[in-house]
Amino acid sequence: MRTSTDDGTERMLQLVMGLPDQIDSGAKAACVARIGRAGGFESVAVAGMGGSGIGAKIVQGLLLDKSRVPVYTCNDYDIPAAVSAKTLFVAVSYSGNTEETLSAYAQARRRGCRIIAITSGGKLGQSAAKAGYPVLAVPAGMPPRAALGHLFSTLPVCLERLNVCESYQRGLEETVRFMRNRRRPWLAKARTIAEHLDGRLPIVYSTSRMLDAVADRWRCQLNENAGVLCHTNLLPEHNHNEIVGMGRPGHPGRNVVVVALLDRETHPRTRFRLESVLDITKQAYHLAMRLESEGRSRLARIFSLIMLGDLVSIEVARRQGKDAMEIKRIDELKRRMAQKRG
Ligand code: PA5
Repeated sequence: MRTSTDDGTERMLQLVMGLPDQIDSGAKAACVARIGRAGGFESVAVAGMGGSGIGAKIVQGLLLDKSRVPVYTCNDYDIPAAVSAKTLFVAVSYSGNTEETLSAYAQARRRGCRIIAITSGGKLGQSAAKAGYPVLAVPAGMPPRAALGHLFSTLPVCLERLNVCESYQRGLEETVRFMRNRRRPWLAKARTIAEHLDGRLPIVYSTSRMLDAVADRWRCQLNENAGVLCHTNLLPEHNHNEIVGMGRPGHPGRNVVVVALLDRETHPRTRFRLESVLDITKQAYHLAMRLESEGRSRLARIFSLIMLGDLVSIEVARRQGKDAMEIKRIDELKRRMAQKRG
C-alpha cells in the first residue's frame, strides 16, 4: 500500500529528475533579467544557507582558476571584512526568510555593495524590490534543495553578464543536454549505490577543488533527503590528518562506505594518494566506491556527480522509509529561532 512517505519521496524524485530543465529555464531567465551595468567589481560575495548556499560553492569552485576577482561565499550572519562598495553581493535564499542570509544582506546594504537577490519571495524579495535591486525570481513551491537548478544557473549567467567571468553558455547547454540523456541510467546506478550505503555511514571524499562543493552537496542531500549522517573530507588535505583517525576509536569498518568523487582534472598524484589511503586503511571501511564524473565541460562533469548524489539520497531515503521531503528537525529549529528574537 502506498503511503504519504512514498508520495513525498516520489515527488522529490520528480524534482531531481527535473534538474536539467531547471538549469535550462534559470539560465534563460537570467540572460534577459535586468541586472545593471557590467564591470568595476573588486570582489564577489554570495550569501546563502543550506540548499540555497550550495550554488555559490559550486560557482566558487568553478571560478577559482578562472576569475580575475576573489569570490567569497557567506554562510553565516556576518560578511567578510573585505566586502566593500566595490563588491558584487548576491543574496540567495529560496524562501527569502532565512535569518543568516537576511543579516548578511543587511550588512552588504550598509557597506554600499552592488546587490542582486535570487529568491522566490519572502522578506528578501520584498526588501530588495523596494530598494530597487535586481530580483531574480525562482518558482515557489519546492523544497529549497530541490530548486538547485534554478538557484545555481542564474549565478554564472549573471556573473558573465557583469564581466566577472567567461561565458559558461556552452557548458550550460551541454550540461542540460547531457543530464537529460543520462538521468535514467544514473537512477539505475543510484539504486545500486544506495544498496551498498543502506544502514552504513557514507564518507564522501572530494579529490579536486572543483569537486569540493559536490561532496558538500552529497552530504547535505544524504542528511536532508535520506535523514542520515554523512562525513566529507577533501584530498589531498585528508592525507595529512584524517588518514590517522580513519576507523578509530574502535569504529567497526563494516559500517562505513567510502565514496570517492573523481574527475579527469584530479591530479594524478592525488589519484595515487587515494589508492594508497584505501589500501593502508582497508580495515576502516566495508567498501570503497570510485565515482568518475562524466561529460565534457567542467559544468557537465560537476552536475553529473551532483545529480547522481541527489538520486542516491532519494534511493537511500526509500530504503530507510524516510519521506525525502520531510525535514522536521530543521523546521522545528527555525520555529524556535523565530520565537526567540534578539
Ligand atoms: O534544503 C533546505 O530546506 C535547507 O537547507 C534550506 O535551504 C536552508 O534552511 C535555507 O533556507 P532558504 O533556502 O529558504 O534560504
